[in-house]
Amino acid sequence: MFITFEGIDGSGKTTQLRRLAKRYHDPLITKEPGGTPTADRIRAILLDAGSKLDPLAEVFLFAASRHQHVVEVIRPALDAGRVVLCDRYVDATLAYQGFGRLIDLDRLRALNDWATGSLRPDKTLLFDIDEETGLRRARGRGGDELRFEAEDIRFYRRVREGYLALAAAEPERYIVIDASGSEDEVAQRVSEAFA
Ligand code: TYD
Repeated sequence: MFITFEGIDGSGKTTQLRRLAKRYHDPLITKEPGGTPTADRIRAILLDAGSKLDPLAEVFLFAASRHQHVVEVIRPALDAGRVVLCDRYVDATLAYQGFGRLIDLDRLRALNDWATGSLRPDKTLLFDIDEETGLRRARGRGGDELRFEAEDIRFYRRVREGYLALAAAEPERYIVIDASGSEDEVAQRVSEAFA
């Protein structure tokens, strides 16, 4: 069973992933970009506000990181019968690079099918939050400003709407969770929607 967690920055998906993980025996918990030593090095380039990255170079780095992650970590865990909980996956590229940066969705899909060997999640939980709240939460975490946090509010609005469009197109895979309110309220909604 392969479950992915999606949402704009500050949607609280990572917290909910950790809570949901308690339901499973020996789950593999992982995240993108990153998830292997090499993919973590690619992550550092992607998130560094000092990196000069053309949008297409960004797409290829996410795909390179994802391929390494699938081959080295996700596929072996699934083959061993483990539940895999992954914080972001291909849908993040479709939402951020496709809807956010306006890169052609069909090309992104083709590249990501190649990168993942067409490995698709069984279920995807989308934590939906309005972009003002999401950005406020993400920036409130402190630390260095990351490359994506420097994007303006219109970018995050496109990403949010993109995620909702992806969810509407695949209702059998996606579960959309209202991510407003407290951590416990959102966890309650997850329990109700994903039994
Ligand atoms: P994430 O690790 O979820 O952020 P953090 O853990 O620091 O809260 O994701 C890092 C950023 O990368 C986030 O802004 C979303 C972006 N991203 C993409 O643009 N495309 C992708 O394919 C992925 C996986 C992430």
